[in-house]
Amino acid sequence: MEEALEVSQNRLLRGVIAALTSDGELDAVLGSVIDLVTDATGGDVCVLYLWDAAHDRLVLRAASPPLQSAVGEVRLRLGEGVTGWAAEHEQVVVIPEDKWGDPRYKYIPELQGERYTSMISVPLFARSGSLLGVFNVHASDRRDYDLDVLKLTGSLVAGAVEHADLFRALAEKEAALAGMMRRTIEAQEEERRRVATEIHDGVTQQLVSIWYRLQACGRSLATDQGQAARELEAAKLLVDEALDEARNAIHDLRPSVLDDLGLAPALRALVHRQFADEIAVDLDIADGVASPTHHEVVLYRVAQEAIANIWRHADARRVKVALFEERPYVVLVVGDDGRGFDPAAKRSRMSFGLAGMAERVSLAGGRLNVHSTPGRGTVVTVLIPGGGPS
Ligand SMILES: Nc1ncnc2c1ncn2[C@@H]1O[C@H](COP(=O)(O)OP(=O)(O)OP(=O)(O)O)[C@@H](O)[C@H]1O
Ligand SMILES: [Mg+2]
Repeated sequence: MEEALEVSQNRLLRGVIAALTSDGELDAVLGSVIDLVTDATGGDVCVLYLWDAAHDRLVLRAASPPLQSAVGEVRLRLGEGVTGWAAEHEQVVVIPEDKWGDPRYKYIPELQGERYTSMISVPLFARSGSLLGVFNVHASDRRDYDLDVLKLTGSLVAGAVEHADLFRALAEKEAALAGMMRRTIEAQEEERRRVATEIHDGVTQQLVSIWYRLQACGRSLATDQGQAARELEAAKLLVDEALDEARNAIHDLRPSVLDDLGLAPALRALVHRQFADEIAVDLDIADGVASPTHHEVVLYRVAQEAIANIWRHADARRVKVALFEERPYVVLVVGDDGRGFDPAAKRSRMSFGLAGMAERVSLAGGRLNVHSTPGRGTVVTVLIPGGGPS
């Protein structure tokens, strides 16, 4: 008998060590603890309660067959039943037989108590002394248990449970931390992308326009001082605007002209400023188009880029810009009759304009179409969800 016990105690010890050194899924550890304890104590079935400090209850967390369906179902207060008594009094309870005669016993249908006459209840404590849980072993005939063996088993099991619980808490913390870091990095990346697009679409485009104005000014200096002065004046205005833009980008990444004028006037001003009297402009921009403010920014930026592209690449004679509502969308069209290009062609890494347009529009839940025929002009169309009733 002694020898058999020693063998099963050794097995328990080895099993608990294996559970301790596994990578500690709490449920897996509890499952193996159940098997180990049943084996080590020579009982028929084992159930394990863990202490839920938030609710002041012992909750059944693991059980050997056929009691597994009771997991999560049985909850006991301190002092309730033999289990609650063991936890409250911090004592091992051994009832070799006729548990029904014990005044502490409480019948719990889920645990099929009628099948087992003997039971033990062993409270489990953390190293700090706080209650971790209780395990019970039941057997269908009389059993005599060695109290020291049960206490030893209890402390080994407590170690395994505490370890798994700490491991779980640590893994949860790690996952939460990783999630937070990922979200922070994503938000940061998003912000950087937005700032980069903002600088590209705003100040950079204005600097390009200024450069052209100054170049024109330089060309006119010797021949037509009046024209040179007008170009210089236009450049000065653009510098003012660029300054405004830069300040605005720093503040809230929203073009100030939209706040000052509203979308339709801002678009008209944009077109006039860019093309002045040099290209015939056909404007069909509706006032009072309902669109959320962040979508207005998208429309304005797309128009800005499309217009800058016409100015720089198209060599056009006519430009058409239209803004209207086609519920549930707001539609912006920027077309030219210039040289056109192949929108599907691979572009250099230095070209951000079209890619930035597409990104802005898709982030806003809209659709972008760039239709271009070499030699026959380009039409950029944007559909973006509007703000009015559909
Ligand atoms: N309206 C247009 N007419 C003719 N070619 C165009 C037009 N719009 C774009 N393109 C062609 O498509 C290319 C890509 O345009 P995109 O705006 O992406 O880059 P980019 O204007 O060259 O540089 P940036 O990054 O400064 O905008 C241009 O280099 C030009 O060749
Ligand atoms: Mg461009």
